[in-house]
Amino acid sequence: MGHSPTSWRIILLLVILIIVLDHALVISAHTDPQDTSALNGIAASWDNTKSKLSDWVGNDPCGEKWSGVYCTQNRVTSIRLSSFGLSGSLSGDIQSLSELQYLDLSYNNLSGSLPLYIGSLSNLESLSVVGCQFSGDIPKELGQLPKLRFLSLNNNRFTGSIPPSIGNLSNLYWLDLGENHLVGSLPVSDGINTGLDNLTNALHFHFGVNQLSGMIPSQLFKSNMKLIHLLLDNNNFTGSIPPTLTLLTKLEVLRLDRNYQLTGPVPANINNLTKLQELQLENNKLTGPLPDLTGMDSLYVVSMGNNNFSLSNVPTWFTALSALTSLYLENLHITGELPQPLFKLPAIQTLGLRGNNFNGTLTIGSDYSSMLSLIDLQDNKITTLAVSGAQYNKKLILVGNPICDQGNNEALYCKTSQQANPAAKPYSTHLNCPGLPPTCLSDQYISPNCTCAVPYMGTLHFRSPSFSDLNNDTYFILLEEDMKEAFLGKQLPVESIALDNPAFGPSNNLDISLKVFPSGKIQFSKEEISYMGFILSNQTYKPHVPGINYGPYFFIGQSYQFAEKISAPGHTKSNSSLVIGVSVGVAFVVVSLLVVFTVFFFIRNKRPKLQPHPRSPSYTSWDIKSTSISTPHLQGARVFTFNELKKVTNSFSDANDIGTGGYGKVYRGVLPNGQLIAVKRSEQGSLQGNLEFRTEIELLSRVHHKNLVSLVGFCFDQGEQMLVYEYVPNGTLKDSLTGMSICSIMCG
Ligand SMILES: *[C@@H]1O[C@H](CO)[C@@H](O)[C@H](O)[C@H]1NC(C)=O
Ligand SMILES: *[C@@H]1O[C@H](CO)[C@@H](O)[C@H](O)[C@H]1NC(C)=O
Ligand SMILES: *[C@@H]1O[C@H](CO)[C@@H](O)[C@H](O)[C@H]1NC(C)=O
Ligand SMILES: *[C@@H]1O[C@H](CO)[C@@H](O)[C@H](O)[C@H]1NC(C)=O
Ligand SMILES: *[C@@H]1O[C@H](CO)[C@@H](O)[C@H](O)[C@H]1NC(C)=O
Ligand SMILES: *[C@@H]1O[C@H](CO)[C@@H](O)[C@H](O)[C@H]1NC(C)=O
Ligand SMILES: *[C@@H]1O[C@H](CO)[C@@H](O)[C@H](O)[C@H]1NC(C)=O
Ligand SMILES: *[C@@H]1O[C@H](CO)[C@@H](O)[C@H](O)[C@H]1NC(C)=O
Ligand SMILES: *[C@@H]1O[C@H](CO)[C@@H](O)[C@H](O)[C@H]1NC(C)=O
Ligand SMILES: *[C@@H]1O[C@H](CO)[C@@H](O)[C@H](O)[C@H]1NC(C)=O
Repeated sequence: MGHSPTSWRIILLLVILIIVLDHALVISAHTDPQDTSALNGIAASWDNTKSKLSDWVGNDPCGEKWSGVYCTQNRVTSIRLSSFGLSGSLSGDIQSLSELQYLDLSYNNLSGSLPLYIGSLSNLESLSVVGCQFSGDIPKELGQLPKLRFLSLNNNRFTGSIPPSIGNLSNLYWLDLGENHLVGSLPVSDGINTGLDNLTNALHFHFGVNQLSGMIPSQLFKSNMKLIHLLLDNNNFTGSIPPTLTLLTKLEVLRLDRNYQLTGPVPANINNLTKLQELQLENNKLTGPLPDLTGMDSLYVVSMGNNNFSLSNVPTWFTALSALTSLYLENLHITGELPQPLFKLPAIQTLGLRGNNFNGTLTIGSDYSSMLSLIDLQDNKITTLAVSGAQYNKKLILVGNPICDQGNNEALYCKTSQQANPAAKPYSTHLNCPGLPPTCLSDQYISPNCTCAVPYMGTLHFRSPSFSDLNNDTYFILLEEDMKEAFLGKQLPVESIALDNPAFGPSNNLDISLKVFPSGKIQFSKEEISYMGFILSNQTYKPHVPGINYGPYFFIGQSYQFAEKISAPGHTKSNSSLVIGVSVGVAFVVVSLLVVFTVFFFIRNKRPKLQPHPRSPSYTSWDIKSTSISTPHLQGARVFTFNELKKVTNSFSDANDIGTGGYGKVYRGVLPNGQLIAVKRSEQGSLQGNLEFRTEIELLSRVHHKNLVSLVGFCFDQGEQMLVYEYVPNGTLKDSLTGMSICSIMCG
């Protein structure tokens, strides 16, 4: 041993001093530095964040309240940055935020894959990246997040199949993977792997609009599941509907429509699902008898058209479903006279019955429901109409029936043109201007209350609403009022909500454009947008209008145009805390430098006498005579170029600087594969000889100590010496650095 016990004691003392001072800095800056550097790393992987995240400066995200960052006890616990106009990728730095519970990056232009290291965020409860451009596979590492309750990856470009590991998320209640490019079959447990059938606490499986294929597995459904919404529409599923589906007795919405290839009969006891409100099976190749829906008294919407059910007479349940608003049974060859009580169902709005064999007399009667708005009986066999057009004044289409060949061609119901009814304009919020509406600046809109402002905009997509008459304004007026109340209830300054252009889109969702206007000001703040977006992406807002069921929805927000910051009035408080932080920081640097120089000179003096630890098992394998660095005996350690390390540390930026030792600085970085690293960069003055550097690398690659992180690789390029370590975020960093300092002293 080259050191006397006294010199070891001095080194130890200095190391402790560094740690204590480091802690002192932490206390003055509040936020855990691990979180600060992670946030800086995340921001660095996004493009042009200067204006969008203009307040992400300094070293105290929690104290300075960085936009979209929320903390508990100086650790970052929530990130909400929806609609911030962010682009770029999500950095693997995210894994360092080990206390993170909520991550909401919805409605941004973020692309690339989700970093697999997201699987190490063991406290994460909610992950939503709705409406971004993420691509690649859904990382199977998500299955390692035991606390995850809410997972919304919908409206991205994810490919690959659903990882079976998702079945590991026993606390999950919301799983939305819709509107992606997912392929493959639905994973079910097989004794080795978990599967979606293990998600017994899930209420929502939203997998619509993908390219999922294969049979819908019968093991997927168990009686102990709590599913209320099962959306498998607009996919490529084949085979028949498994009878086990009827075990889901809590089910309210079932969408299997538009798979085009589902065959076989509908399970006979489908009417066990007495809570079902929406049943959508249209556009498949289902066979067997027309399903018997007797007793399913909660049904609002039944849509089973364009299937291959066997020929059927008018079923008795037609007139028995008392809640029914919308019945779609196109092209099913149903035969017989339409029963008049069908038109009297109290809530009935739409009857889409074209392409059947309804024959004889059509008797609407005078007591038809006041809500009835469309009877489409095109291409049937109707010969007579038992009510005059004056009595029934809503839309009726009888084109393609015998009645229209019998001299009635001039009747409105025999004209195809009536379908484009100009009087029925889609809903648009009424402007309440006393005089002429004002002229607004280009990024502003006129609010319903007739002021110019920059609204938060986007589109609401209702996946299964209980109504179909889009000409009834009540649905939209009540929704506006309900949303406004909900936002005001969350202390958001909302003047009014404007809804426009409701229409059923290609996936048969009801799409409505939304504008939320600020109250008493022209713009929303970043904090307000972050919260409003979160309320919609997290589904905190649920429409709650008595008697109207809007069903499951998703929202796609637009980027909000934040105002340019003018000066920065009223920042005195944060400025003073910044000054304290800076002065403490400066003091820390000065003391650290003193410590560093002491250690440095100490080492310089001792170095010639320093010998490798004789008990080191690898000592004998060193090629002592060699003076070249070219081929150290390393397994698994990589050689990095200077430029590679420059890139991954963001040009050795101060933000990435995580510590200083006797040799130079340690920088944090993220390798392209997402792995976090710590790069120890020797200062010019402390460069070691080639042999010494090599010796250190070889020693480190062999040492395994609980406080010493493992070596990933090294760089010996452009006159630089750098060692690249694995960076373990979970609080072990200081131990690791300490270990590294000691080793540097010992081996250097
Ligand atoms: C979104 O990002 C892509 C690159 O990833 C870019 O080409 C595109 O223009 C961006 N779109 C918007 C609206 O910013
Ligand atoms: C399942 O969760 C446990 C504990 O949460 C974790 O240890 C395991 O790795 C997870 N399995 C998969 C396949 O993700
Ligand atoms: C998943 O479900 C299967 C079948 O019910 C069961 O055998 C297995 O233990 C479950 N696994 C977990 C992790 O819950
Ligand atoms: C799914 O079906 C669509 C339309 O039928 C087809 O274009 C697409 O190739 C299919 N995808 C897969 C993965 O089979
Ligand atoms: C569901 O249907 C089956 C077969 O008709 C019946 O035996 C069972 O009791 C029903 N379950 C419920 C909960 O109604
Ligand atoms: C199945 O139904 C569709 C649409 O109703 C029809 O075009 C097709 O011919 C039918 N196929 C068979 C085999 O009946
Ligand atoms: C309607 O069609 C059915 C089945 O073909 C037939 O029995 C019935 O007589 C028809 N009714 C009328 C009024 O044509
Ligand atoms: C519009 O919808 C509301 C709510 O369902 C209903 O009470 C009202 O009668 C409807 N009005 C018309 C004209 O259908
Ligand atoms: C509408 O504007 C008037 C005049 O500015 C204001 O007094 C009123 O409070 C506004 N109403 C709402 C709902 O913001
Ligand atoms: C997110 O929404 C769920 C309901 O969907 C609610 O239970 C939870 O409290 C919300 N989270 C926050 C932080 O508001």
